[in-house]
Formats: sequence, C-alpha cells, structure tokens
Amino acid sequence: MSDLTPQERELAEAARAAMSHAYAPYSRFAVGAALRLRDGSILTGSNFENASYGLSLCAETVAIAAANAQGRLKDIVAIAVAGAPMDGPGDAVVTPCGRCRQVLNEAQDVAGHEIPVLCVAASGTGAVRHRLADLLPHAFGPRSLG
Ligand code: THU
Repeated sequence: MSDLTPQERELAEAARAAMSHAYAPYSRFAVGAALRLRDGSILTGSNFENASYGLSLCAETVAIAAANAQGRLKDIVAIAVAGAPMDGPGDAVVTPCGRCRQVLNEAQDVAGHEIPVLCVAASGTGAVRHRLADLLPHAFGPRSLG
C-alpha cells in the first residue's frame, strides 16, 4: 500500500468503507467499490444480494449504475475494489468478477479512456493495479456490434 498515490489511497479507503454497506446475508462476503470522477469526487457501491441468489448485484456494478444515474459515466477516471468475508480475514486482494469486468468495459468505452482498476485488501495490507485490458482481454464491446 505504501506505493499508492494519496489519491489512490483515498479511493482505496472509500472502497473499504463501502464494504460496511454491503447487504450480503447469504454469502456473508462484503464488497465495496469506489469510483473517482474527473472533478475529484468519489461515488461508491456495495454488493446488494437477493433471496433469489442469482439476482444479486456486485459492488462494482452498483457503483457504475450510480454514476450512470447521475449522468457521470463519462467522468469516471478510476475504480478501487475491496472485499472480504464478513467473519474472516481481509488480507486477500479481490479482483472484479467476470460480469463486472464486462460492465467496466462498457463504462471505459463511454469514458473514452482507460479506467485503472485498483484492487485492495480489506485489511489495508495489499494493493494491485490492473489494466482492464489485462483483466478482460479481447473484450466484446460496443465496437463489436459494428
Ligand atoms: N461480489 C462483488 O460485489 N463483486 C465482485 O466482483 C465479486 C463478487 C459479490 C457478489 C456476492 O454478493 C458476493 O460478492 C459473493 O460472491
């Protein structure tokens, strides 16, 4: 974590804080996501599960939908993600699931520039920067539709 910029550190902290809003009574796995917008502001999302398990929403997708609801998709400049079992250790660095990678790919296309993905440990002990192109190579996206 020591090599993070102050801005990255703040975004990581926001993602960790958003974990506390997770509604995850079924998996008991809390995830928080934080988006940095172009004006410096931060929008967050938390996972929102459902008794019909498959309908559950991931934190990253909730955060991006929140940005869309405010007409801010094009303003997203970075995302941080943190997740951990509610009753366990938080040392693991969680990466976005496949669906969230696809959702991020759409947001990146709208933004018109890369959205770096900062994956951080809930405990604050680790962080890894990823390019979305590495997490989702050969992506299907808006341009694929011709
Ligand atoms: N989850 C996320 O919120 N984001 C991910 O990228 C991976 C998984 C959530 C979904 C579910 O509520 C819980 O974590 C366990 O899978």
